Amino acid sequence: MTAYREFHRRSIADREGFWDEQARLVHWQKPFSKVLDYSRPPFAKWFVGGQTNLCYNAIDRHLEARGDQKALVWISTEVDAQKTFTYRELHAEVQRAAAMMQALGVKQGDRVVIYMPMIPEAAFAILACARIGAVHSVVFGGFAAASLAARIDDAKPKLMITADGGSRMGKVVLYKSLVDEALRVARHPPEKVLIFRRGLDANMASVAGRDVEWRDLAQKHAGAQVPCAWLESNESSYILYTSGTTGHPKGVQRDVGGHAVALAASMKHLYCGEAGETMFTTSDIGWVVGHSYIIYAPLIAGMTTIMYEGVPVRPDAGIWWKIVQDHKVAVMFSAPTAIRVLKKQDPAYMKKYDLSSLKHLFLAGEPLDEPTHVWITESLGRLVIDHYWQTETGWPLLSAHPGVEKTPLKMGSPSFPCYGYDVRLLHETTGKEVADGEKGVVAIKPPLPPGCMATVWGDDARFVETYFRSFPGQLVYTTFDWGIRDKDGYYFILGRTDDVINVAGHRLGTREIEEAVNMHPNIAECAVVGVADPVKGQMPLAFAVAKTHVEDQKKLEKEVMETVDKQLGAIARPRAVHFVTLLPKTRSGKTLRRSIQALAEGRDPGDLTTIEDPGALQQIKDALR
Ligand code: PRX
Repeated sequence: MTAYREFHRRSIADREGFWDEQARLVHWQKPFSKVLDYSRPPFAKWFVGGQTNLCYNAIDRHLEARGDQKALVWISTEVDAQKTFTYRELHAEVQRAAAMMQALGVKQGDRVVIYMPMIPEAAFAILACARIGAVHSVVFGGFAAASLAARIDDAKPKLMITADGGSRMGKVVLYKSLVDEALRVARHPPEKVLIFRRGLDANMASVAGRDVEWRDLAQKHAGAQVPCAWLESNESSYILYTSGTTGHPKGVQRDVGGHAVALAASMKHLYCGEAGETMFTTSDIGWVVGHSYIIYAPLIAGMTTIMYEGVPVRPDAGIWWKIVQDHKVAVMFSAPTAIRVLKKQDPAYMKKYDLSSLKHLFLAGEPLDEPTHVWITESLGRLVIDHYWQTETGWPLLSAHPGVEKTPLKMGSPSFPCYGYDVRLLHETTGKEVADGEKGVVAIKPPLPPGCMATVWGDDARFVETYFRSFPGQLVYTTFDWGIRDKDGYYFILGRTDDVINVAGHRLGTREIEEAVNMHPNIAECAVVGVADPVKGQMPLAFAVAKTHVEDQKKLEKEVMETVDKQLGAIARPRAVHFVTLLPKTRSGKTLRRSIQALAEGRDPGDLTTIEDPGALQQIKDALR
């Protein structure tokens, strides 16, 4: 492990020297004058004074050497279609989209909310924002109108871009009508909505003066040339909302230069993706994994990226492996939950295809259990690398580093700290570092490396409070995950200590779901906990107190579930809603979620000395029975 160890050691001991070297992986229109400005902890400014552009690095830079190479391959098993764009074609599409946005009044620094299914136009829109220096905020298509409205009100966009519809498992999802619903309740709606019509919603309504059809505008801007805006490294590139411990989503704000460098470096040292090769990331553009590893990183590296609209088991469970074979995928990135879905299918599907191009499969987003890790490694006959990171970091925090040194993997472990991260495991109450083999809270000693969130959009104080103030007297970034390091230095992530749950790799706050449940007129209060689920990792489970006596529990349960669907989207729907008359709380009024969760998972509820009324816990037990 000497090469890895030395690489990581240097990245911390000589931060500036290390990142100065990594910065050479991208184009700088104007060189930076300082690698790191850390004069206002914990805010880190990287590559100060340098000017660059993410879209230039992702597209223009490659035109000369690989203009005719495929840049983007879009495959939809939902509408049974495929489209390919070379770097030159992508360049043209993105310039046209940029010209369209400018025609709708978008200027540098303006926000553009993108609420789109997995179609090429979504990638054009994202890259067009980057090109002109507009700040994109992509919202996952699974979110309901109220969630979308909350994000719109926080980002205050100049423009929204959407499509008439998307498709999931052959069922049409009406994006535009959901946007209309969100804009009816939003306090800061955009002036214009640009709509790409796919023909999935014949009855799509149009608001005169506000709605603009993509195709109509595109015709007027065919062949447009829009130069890249040269942005100072620390300007904002995007906002991506993520769940936290409050009901109000946080806007993770990322910069330009640090983001480009971090992604380029990760392709080299971690993913081993080379220019000319193909990368297939099975995520959605609405998540951080999609931002980093469907759109930006593979293109910055000069690779071909696959954008897949569909599920892993349709038309059959061989579809991903067929894509790997047909497109000679070298690097693949997916999530444990998807692998657990595939595990239930016939493994013959995997054997049917020639997977010889595949170098590695990377998995992230939730704990990868050892049996699943073993199963997929054996079935693929490839290294399957578990790696750990977050929306906030934008790129891996713990991983094996096959581009630096091929270290042995341990099943169920995301290996070691990535270069640039000074990772510590701290005791929950004392804040002191724990010994090897002891459980601690994963923390990073700042400054955070390039590519990590710069701040919470519009709220520097919240950034410091949320992430850096968990241990009194110490300025450390805490991620609220439990971890253990073994004597060989391998980390194991045990899950969150806070109230964030992870449903099939989708991150949701228990508070958000509780607020959604409480929207039902007959619910007085509730507690939502995440409970272990064999396929999805975790599922929300709700315990609710009704305002009036409940005659028909099944009926009310169904109504509450529908309320959650409407507020947050079906991804947040509880597995069940149990009705109780009392919730277990501490004397200070804090709901004992950890105890409820333990009971629901058949574990010991732990320390109950602070409980106000032990009868409440009995009710939870009875409800679970
Ligand atoms: O709890 C950790 C879990 O997912 C959280 C971050 O989720 P999100 O912001 O959606 O970003 C996902 C980016 C891959 C983490 O705080 N998590 C992520 N990867 C792993 C993981 N838990 C265990 N093992 C992992 N490899």
